[in-house]
Amino acid sequence: MNIPEHIAIIMDGNGRWAEEHGEERVFGHQNGVNAVRNTIEGAGEAGVKYLTLYAFSTENWNRPKEEIDALMELLVKAIHNELDNLMKNNVRLQTIGNIESLPSKCQIELKDAMKKTKNNKGLTVVLALSYSGRWEIVNAVKEIVKNNVYEKDISENSFSSFLNTQNIPDPGILIRTGREFRISNFLLWQVAYTELFFSDILWPDFRKEHLFEIIEQYQFRQRRFGMTGSQIDNH
Ligand code: IPE
Ligand code: IPE
Ligand code: MG
Repeated sequence: MNIPEHIAIIMDGNGRWAEEHGEERVFGHQNGVNAVRNTIEGAGEAGVKYLTLYAFSTENWNRPKEEIDALMELLVKAIHNELDNLMKNNVRLQTIGNIESLPSKCQIELKDAMKKTKNNKGLTVVLALSYSGRWEIVNAVKEIVKNNVYEKDISENSFSSFLNTQNIPDPGILIRTGREFRISNFLLWQVAYTELFFSDILWPDFRKEHLFEIIEQYQFRQRRFGMTGSQIDNH
């Protein structure tokens, strides 16, 4: 089986899941943590190297303050509670996004978990927090200007090295749960040739079986990268 090195997920549908259960939106976010735990386990079992999870977008700062506060609170709790599990599963934790914009409590918890898991050699879980693709690209341009990089030294490769994902291969698979069909400012540069999968499952119901099913479907995709089908077949 062809297992992509990197799978990225837009974890959407928590609010609607809660609504369907007659509960407040926060209940959906809380139950989303179970889906995260199970999916991380599955990705590790499948032999995926990087799993990037879109947990909070730049635009999500525009949500009601109570929901943002609850999400940040949940983030602190979840990282704290899941740390043993991450260690047990040999998972290394990393982040992308504007981490400095998060409440200091979150930053401290994240730093601690990254430090403790930094030598783990299994799956790397990349949490996208206060992240957006446009923010990341603008940020890269600022870094390039600050570093007085010469025009002749600018290439797709060198530009990529100024992105938050500098050492991470582009995703082979991007999954969006929750019945929406858009990218919502996620990994804009990196998904140039990623295979897209849209799942009707609302995020709190997503489990490793759904992930495995998508990896199976991925086997039937022909990644042509601009070439013809027969060029790929004869390779
Ligand atoms: C995704 O679920 C989680 C975050 C964006 C933090 P939503 O909260 O967007 O759930 P829906 O889309 O409203 O159902
Ligand atoms: C995308 O979901 C962001 C995350 C999953 C963190 P949203 O629910 O914020 O996306 P839109 O606003 O419906 O596009
Ligand atoms: Mg949503």
